Amino acid sequence: MLKEYIDLSYKPRRSDLICMFKIKPNRISMKKAAAHVAAESSVGTWTEVGPMNDRIKKMRARVFDIDGNYVKIAYPEVLFEKDNMAQVMSSIAGNIFGMKVVNELRLEDIDFPDDFMRIYKGPEFGIRGIRSHMKIKERPFVGAIIKPKIGLKTKQHATLAYETWMGGIDIIKDDENLSNQRFNPFKDRVVETYAVKDKASSETGEVKEYMPNITAETETMLERMDFIRSQGGKYAMVDVVTTGFSTIQTIRKNSKGIILHAHRAMHGAITRGNQGISMLALAKIYRLIGVDQLHIGTIVGKMEGDKTEVVNIWENIEKKIVKKDKKEHILAENWGNIKPVFAVCSGGLHPSHIPALVKSFGKDIIIQAGGGVHGHPDGSRAGAKAMRQSVDAVMKNISLKRYSKKYNELKRALDHWK
Ligand code: 3PG
Ligand code: 3PG
Ligand code: MG
Repeated sequence: MLKEYIDLSYKPRRSDLICMFKIKPNRISMKKAAAHVAAESSVGTWTEVGPMNDRIKKMRARVFDIDGNYVKIAYPEVLFEKDNMAQVMSSIAGNIFGMKVVNELRLEDIDFPDDFMRIYKGPEFGIRGIRSHMKIKERPFVGAIIKPKIGLKTKQHATLAYETWMGGIDIIKDDENLSNQRFNPFKDRVVETYAVKDKASSETGEVKEYMPNITAETETMLERMDFIRSQGGKYAMVDVVTTGFSTIQTIRKNSKGIILHAHRAMHGAITRGNQGISMLALAKIYRLIGVDQLHIGTIVGKMEGDKTEVVNIWENIEKKIVKKDKKEHILAENWGNIKPVFAVCSGGLHPSHIPALVKSFGKDIIIQAGGGVHGHPDGSRAGAKAMRQSVDAVMKNISLKRYSKKYNELKRALDHWK
């Protein structure tokens, strides 16, 4: 039966879900290893079983393309409870990663069938919706993370947020491991920070936003999102990898009117190296489920992720049509009516990185910095000014060096992080 999972003449139906795997066989042929992956992720197991019949055989996954270590497998849609992302991933990203017949296995890309684009909500706002909320027509957004990432008391957190907004930051976010600790309880933090947010908004005449981290078990996250709503808030941040696919589906089902910012903490445990799931595949899942903003990496910052990979992620979350790229082993995708996700670059960034980021991704990005704001030699407000000055320089097509002659905060940042 194993060889029945290989059909190199098979032309996938539009209704098939297609996966691109990178396979390193363990002392068996690539074909055999690929057949095991297709079997175990669809209707088979390690040996023939008596009850197998022709009707079930028709439901099997098929290996239809082998290109070196890269294997394409088509899955008939009948295998999936489509709006159940946990079940989809238990199939195409379940037991197969632990099989002895492979030394390494990575799910590189997923091409979802059109049906999925109709069933999943996708983002509520899209880039246009978020820009109109923030009243920022075309420049990149500048965000800041409160640092130290954990430990500040509620009032200190709010004061630091105020300073940073007053320096020109658009959006402040909690760090990924700040939730509801004794020294900075969630509800107090939201109330105190919203109070100074409104103050900063009226003093600067700009929309200022705050993304409280609601990360917790599901019911508590729903309560925290309701609390945000009750306080007139617009954003919630959630650690999408540690909380899990099903929880994010529940949050999205209940997020009406709240912009969801997805932090990807722990992704590195799954996405790095040659074993696991690519950030591209994860990013496509989060777009389907419907986060509004997603960390995708920075190329230049502290998080691992080379240029091509991060640009491929950016394309797949912001564009409607993604062309297949044989060299990059990227599958084609048509996102239909699923809105784009606002790409977030964050992790080890400071003002001098901004021109390179805009060059790689264009202006539809949210650039965030924690250390790159609060580590400024003249303090957080100056650090925020330097970030905003760097964006302004790029929007005016002026080099940072020249622009820093007129703006001292930027000059001090460039000198400090040369
Ligand atoms: C990411 O994009 O992975 C995060 O922004 C990294 O940020 P961290 O410094 O909180 O890990
Ligand atoms: C994040 O959560 O995005 C990071 O904490 C960014 O922090 P950094 O700018 O200090 O790396
Ligand atoms: Mg962080």
